[in-house]
Amino acid sequence: MTDPRPVVGIAGLGYMGLATGLAFANRGWKAVGYDISTEIRAAVARGESPYSEVGLPELLRSEVGAGRFEVVASMDDLAARADAIFLCLPTPSSATGRIDLRAVRSGSRSLGRALGSVTARRLVVVKSTVVPGTTERVVEPIVRRATGRGPDRLAVASNPEFLAEGTMVRDALRPERVVVGAREAWAQALLRRLYRPFRTQVVVLTPSGAELVKYSSNTFLAMKVSFANEIARVAERLDVNVDDVMAAVGADSRIGRRFLVAGPGFGGSCFDKDVRALATFMGDLGVPRRLARATLRANDDRVGHVFDLVHAVEPRLAGRRVALLGLAFKAGTDDVRESRALPILERLLAEGAQVRAHDPVAVPRFQREWARRHPGATGARLRFVDSAPDALAGADLAILQADWPEYARWPAGWSRRMNAPVLVDLRRAVRPAVARSAGLRVLALGVGAPGGRPMPEVAG
Ligand code: UDX
Repeated sequence: MTDPRPVVGIAGLGYMGLATGLAFANRGWKAVGYDISTEIRAAVARGESPYSEVGLPELLRSEVGAGRFEVVASMDDLAARADAIFLCLPTPSSATGRIDLRAVRSGSRSLGRALGSVTARRLVVVKSTVVPGTTERVVEPIVRRATGRGPDRLAVASNPEFLAEGTMVRDALRPERVVVGAREAWAQALLRRLYRPFRTQVVVLTPSGAELVKYSSNTFLAMKVSFANEIARVAERLDVNVDDVMAAVGADSRIGRRFLVAGPGFGGSCFDKDVRALATFMGDLGVPRRLARATLRANDDRVGHVFDLVHAVEPRLAGRRVALLGLAFKAGTDDVRESRALPILERLLAEGAQVRAHDPVAVPRFQREWARRHPGATGARLRFVDSAPDALAGADLAILQADWPEYARWPAGWSRRMNAPVLVDLRRAVRPAVARSAGLRVLALGVGAPGGRPMPEVAG
């Protein structure tokens, strides 16, 4: 008898769950998805993406339209239909730095209950980012207890994801490697089979090993960013551009060019949370955790560096008009979690500046996050505006925080709207030739000039 084609189940249709499920569907598997939110289920079932992510709406329409990806109404349906069920539930940071496992625990409980009435063999796969040991010590006991099944009928595996926002669809469809943590041979074989159409290497480890790969990867990438950020401060004191240095450093294949781009510090939903969780976990184990902690400390210092640059242009910000360009944690997303724009804006206001803030897509989310952090603040000195020229009107200074392509084009008209055409460019987005023709003076993070850190030259 030939094995029937396994069905993929996705529990949790957030960014990551949805991209993962659609990628399996696109690679030829039948995939079914469930989310606790009726709004998300309804949107996905209609073929409408609940998230703004490059390529996601198109992929969702085509996979739902073709019937390869289907939304189910309950965890029971998911358990009944899917052979491998991927838990894609959020694991936010808690105040202690540890991850908050409430969603994972309650999702595991409800999946366990649902699996209790299924007789066929099932594989539960933890895709959420969880510290080593969680799959085997938290998720597995919950689902095993609920089902009373042994490892021949029920296995619990780890399979971390490495999707980055803005490239999530591409990353999900074409992973550079797949990491599987599973003990049972049948579970390893099923995961290998599901990933075969992706034509990529599948690395099989123990569940803890796979979980540790995820934290090690993100901590190493964050460390690379922090390293480039520290070298940027050196470059500023020399007649050197940090990008030129990092291009040559990264040309060594032992190092690699990516994630050596200096900027205002790393943000986003993963790096800070994951490095913090790894450092806390290492602390719990009693092993040294110097690099993880230094990576976080170096990132916390970024706001100080940003204000060194700002003060070089404008020593006193009280009463000055500042345009803050780019509120997302990076260009290409409307996500503002851990965006460096948050502490930068807080400090601008604390120093008495009047701020107009702009982002091509992230203003609504940023405003919600700002209101959550500063409930009841009047915001008389802060305005969110719909266009970059509006933000720049009458400004004494602009700060570029996220390198959206529209900022890099900087038309001359933008400079003319400013009271003083000066930009502190935290991403080196505006090329010198563009700045020259726009009559813009630029102080760029990580770029030095002969004789050390100068005040920006008048361009043109
Ligand atoms: C990251 C990881 O890349 C991904 O594998 C993981 O699954 C989730 O976390 P993401 O948070 O979407 O993805 O963003 P990423 O592109 O990695 O950037 C993270 C932060 O570092 C951003 O604030 C970005 O601006 C910053 N960064 C990144 C730099 O400052 N310099 C770089 O060279 C790279």
